[in-house]
Amino acid sequence: MKDLFDKGVISLNIILIGPPGAGKGTQASLIANKYNLPFVSSGDLFREHRKLGTKLGLLAEKYMNQGELVPDHVTIDMVMNWLDQNKGGSSGFLLDGFPRTVQQATSLEKALGNANPVGPAVYINVDKDELLRRLTGRRVCMRCQISFHIHSNPPLIQDQCDKCSKPLAQREDDNFDAVEARLDAYRRNTEPLVAYYDHQNVLIEIDGNETIRQVSKDIVESLDCFN
Ligand code: AP5
Ligand code: MG
Repeated sequence: MKDLFDKGVISLNIILIGPPGAGKGTQASLIANKYNLPFVSSGDLFREHRKLGTKLGLLAEKYMNQGELVPDHVTIDMVMNWLDQNKGGSSGFLLDGFPRTVQQATSLEKALGNANPVGPAVYINVDKDELLRRLTGRRVCMRCQISFHIHSNPPLIQDQCDKCSKPLAQREDDNFDAVEARLDAYRRNTEPLVAYYDHQNVLIEIDGNETIRQVSKDIVESLDCFN
């Protein structure tokens, strides 16, 4: 696959699937930088809208704070808009946290068309105890949205972003009740996508319990072998 991608013959339309705290955001930037792909997290797009106080941001806020999914039609419009503005080149893109429902998945397929299929779908699988450890210890830069972890991925200076030096904070939906609701929403709505993409022969499953560096290595190795 790598040769064809390097020659521009095929594009990589990568989607990252995984439960809350699996490391989607952490891996998204590493992979996108390696393959020089535009990338976005649907959660980050919603948080940007909230920061700007847009109508979409206000609508999304009440779902996000309760750990529920934002309705499909709103989410699909927002991500399609991002794709229209960013898929300019032919090499593909990387989506972190979209699609998260079967309806989102079919909408993405329709938008891309048969000549430009979705894939690979990278599923980062992590045990629940480890997810809880990651979410409770996560600290996020409110300006650039980069995630750190107090133990496994600490910033160079405590409570300060490595990139922009702004203070780090806990995400509003990283409290116990919201995390339980997010895990439940994941099980009900998103886990079925694992079988969905497996059936399409585009699924790559990664053991996300390993270190950040090892998970990256495993993803890159799998992507290079993908056909
Ligand atoms: P979103 O922001 O996407 O949240 P999420 O899916 O719950 O995932 P997280 O961002 O919490 O986790 P992550 O997998 O990115 O982990 P991270 O890399 O930060 O969505 C938020 C909300 O927006 C949703 O609840 C919903 O309301 C709405 N929404 C978004 N998309 C939607 C959609 N498509 N449809 C409908 N609604 C939608 O890592 C976590 C921590 O672990 C960090 O501290 C990190 O440093 C650490 N870490 C990462 N990898 C490792 C590792 N390998 N070892 C040790 N530590 C690690
Ligand atoms: Mg994330």
